[in-house]
Amino acid sequence: MADTLTPVLTADWADEQSWKLATYERNGGYRALRTALRMAPDDIITAVKDSGLRGRGGAGFPTGMKWGFIPQDNPNPKYLVVNADESEPGTCKDIPLMMASPHTLVEGVVISSFAIRANRAFIYIRGEVVHVVRRVQAAVAEAYAAGHLGRNIHGSGYDLDVVVHAGAGAYICGEETALLEGLEGRRGQPRLRPPFPAVAGLYASPTVINNVESIASVPSIVGNGAEWFASMGTEKSKGFGIFSLSGHVANPGQYEAPLGVTLRTLIDLAGGVRHGHELKFWTPGGSSTPILTAEHLDVPLDFEAVAGAGSMLGTRALQIFDETTCVVRSVLRWTEFYKHESCGKCTPCREGTYWLVQVLTKLENGTGQEKDLGVLLDQCDNILGRAFCALGDGATSPITSSIEYFRDEYLQHLTNGGCPFDPVASTLFAAEGAR
Ligand SMILES: Cc1cc2nc3c(=O)[nH]c(=O)nc-3n(C[C@H](O)[C@H](O)[C@H](O)COP(=O)(O)O)c2cc1C
Ligand code: SF4
Repeated sequence: MADTLTPVLTADWADEQSWKLATYERNGGYRALRTALRMAPDDIITAVKDSGLRGRGGAGFPTGMKWGFIPQDNPNPKYLVVNADESEPGTCKDIPLMMASPHTLVEGVVISSFAIRANRAFIYIRGEVVHVVRRVQAAVAEAYAAGHLGRNIHGSGYDLDVVVHAGAGAYICGEETALLEGLEGRRGQPRLRPPFPAVAGLYASPTVINNVESIASVPSIVGNGAEWFASMGTEKSKGFGIFSLSGHVANPGQYEAPLGVTLRTLIDLAGGVRHGHELKFWTPGGSSTPILTAEHLDVPLDFEAVAGAGSMLGTRALQIFDETTCVVRSVLRWTEFYKHESCGKCTPCREGTYWLVQVLTKLENGTGQEKDLGVLLDQCDNILGRAFCALGDGATSPITSSIEYFRDEYLQHLTNGGCPFDPVASTLFAAEGAR
């Protein structure tokens, strides 16, 4: 069973003071940087392309291809921006990575910036997690002091400065163009594309924006080779990833495994669904990915197979809910989040998420009518594909998928005149404790 896991990013998390430079270097850290600095930048881009690494921030865009879009003949400076906003409900992999092994990220930043010929990089961390900001700032300071950052890194002639930026705490600032707006000091709202950030991103200059885990995977690719990385995973979803199990499992946590592992295997590794209970529904990649059920336990968790099952791999944020959970209440809770986080720029999302909450609240309270389900689906239809950015689309996913799989439970709220899980759910929860 242990062979199922492929600890690379997480390999040293249990070491004493794993976040310190000395620990990281003792475990081989910054060796890949020295290798990279001896390579031609384009060869690093080729290696990342050949590895098959796809963006770990949710959309799965090929990382090497993204780097290749940077127009090197553009006279403006090039920038690398690391998206460390991590605010999606359920998503909780980048923050543990930055806490346990910030130098994996810093080393990845230096190699990636060298590859795209950037002399300045930014790490944009959500503002609420002050402890993470401090940890990454401390790692950057250690890296400067050791000569891994700054002028003439290891005598290579290459210069890089890294700025750790704390956002103001808005989910929309994880959307890459809203993040750039925030970084430039404006209100975080998405930009119209084109132009794409690769051509006109930060300060209208060529910019690569990548997720923390994407950039942190780069040192291992340079150090072990593209083939090594591509030997893991599935045909079109290569390598390993951090799968975050939360909710009703015996041992929630981070499980690093090849893409294509199944939820059945991961739940086994996590000690099973909490004792005496059974899986009811789950999200493959956070609250913006359509929910799945126990019938999907054997779907390979890669980009293609999860899409084939009607959902998205997203950020591999596997939130596990057992039979004591009210699906309507969970969906309402997520929808309240989207309403709160809607940036207000476009009408379908700004107004639509408000109305979704109104209708869902009536249904959860048992004061709605059966035809409200049709109203909800109609509202979703008017948001999906019509909103300015993917936040609006994401808001509809839990609703449409829960009506698909749990229509009867919605109706039960109406016949029951209220949530059928009250007070049973709260009693069970109190008796067994929220593990
Ligand atoms: C509302 C919203 C929030 C997002 N939040 C994040 C985030 O916190 N971290 C992240 O890496 N990507 C987030 N994304 C995706 C980014 O826009 C972008 O695709 C990603 O940072 C690209 O990195 P990757 O290619 O390495 O995956 C979000 C997208 C949307 C629409
Ligand atoms: S979809 Fe929502 S978050 Fe995105 S631009 Fe429109 S209002 Fe803002």
